[in-house]
Amino acid sequence: MFEKLFSAPPDEILELMQAFRNDPRPNKIDLGVGVYKDHNGYTPIMKAIKVAEKKLWASETTKSYVGLTGDIEFHQVMIDLILGNTIIPQRIAAAATPGGTGALRQGLELIKIANPRATIWLSDPTWPNHPSIAEHLELKVAKYRYFNKLSQSVSFDEMLIDLSNAKEGDVVLLHGCCHNPTGANLNHSQWVALAELLCEKRLVPLIDIAYQGFGDGLEEDTKGLRHLSENLPEVIIASSCSKNFGIYRERTGIILLISDKKCQKKINQDMLAFLNRNSFSFPPDHGSRLVTIVLQDNTLRKNWEEELRKIRSGMIENRNALARELRSRTGSDHFGFLSEHRGMFSLLGFSEDKVSELRFKHGIYMVSDSRVNIAALSKTTIPILAEAIISVGL
Ligand code: LMR
Repeated sequence: MFEKLFSAPPDEILELMQAFRNDPRPNKIDLGVGVYKDHNGYTPIMKAIKVAEKKLWASETTKSYVGLTGDIEFHQVMIDLILGNTIIPQRIAAAATPGGTGALRQGLELIKIANPRATIWLSDPTWPNHPSIAEHLELKVAKYRYFNKLSQSVSFDEMLIDLSNAKEGDVVLLHGCCHNPTGANLNHSQWVALAELLCEKRLVPLIDIAYQGFGDGLEEDTKGLRHLSENLPEVIIASSCSKNFGIYRERTGIILLISDKKCQKKINQDMLAFLNRNSFSFPPDHGSRLVTIVLQDNTLRKNWEEELRKIRSGMIENRNALARELRSRTGSDHFGFLSEHRGMFSLLGFSEDKVSELRFKHGIYMVSDSRVNIAALSKTTIPILAEAIISVGL
């Protein structure tokens, strides 16, 4: 049987992470995988999470199973974090999942059951795991234009033109904020125009929000998503706690199904339980319990929000500092877009050859499309990166 297997295509981001670990050069710089790093190049545990772990250790008396869709209190705090009070609870079904990827997977599994003929429309470019999971599930995939490489901004007109070719019931995968890999995001009036098109064409948004709080703020980053949820009959949301709570390895995420029919909630909830049962049975509990403790405790929540605010403003400072450094070295505003973008990533706009040169000559690792992790830069590494960029040429 095993001889029928094939070597699965490697995931570039994860391969890069391993290659970086294996590189013996002491001054190497990792701008690859989307993990936050402090100025020492370390990914710390957030302070509120550390306190929550102590609280959990002291109070938890059993490790027995919870429920197929996870803990109800986790659902409530996450619904509140993502949607505020914009949507009545009777419209929302929820399930805890192993990370945001688990939520995406369950969302796509559900689409396959509900409408196997749906095409999944993905932004061009997008996070490589989006097409990978959809194609693995044998769902049809199409691309919509999203990014103008010359202006380094969203090509919104083209996006609407492409999506107007979608057929009723198709699914549009959107990045809730902090677009990965481009860093270029829709503004509010574009979200409003998009909602109109989705409504008119009867398309279903699947919103991946993996970086809430990394863009302009916890609330600000959900404005587009909330607008869609308030104005469309059906919305699927896949959210991750990996980045904003810094609990990457705990695999904590949630899927929300929003329906305009209150009677649909029970069916949706049952379907999520069925999907979890058939994939992994019960979702991981530890991370979701930590998130719940932090969000339910006023002091911990304030501490967490403050630490997240510092991470966010650190990323904006890194963006501005790199743009400034490159402006002063090139005498041009070619990299001014770095300050406009938000979130962990931007594309530098380099060819694969230049990306290789940066890696092999300078020990600077980035994804081959020239995506850099802004959150991994520091005062020390920004001038080194700028110098290396100049040496490989624009
Ligand atoms: C990334 O895009 O680097 C992160 O989302 C990590 C991953 O799993 O790819």
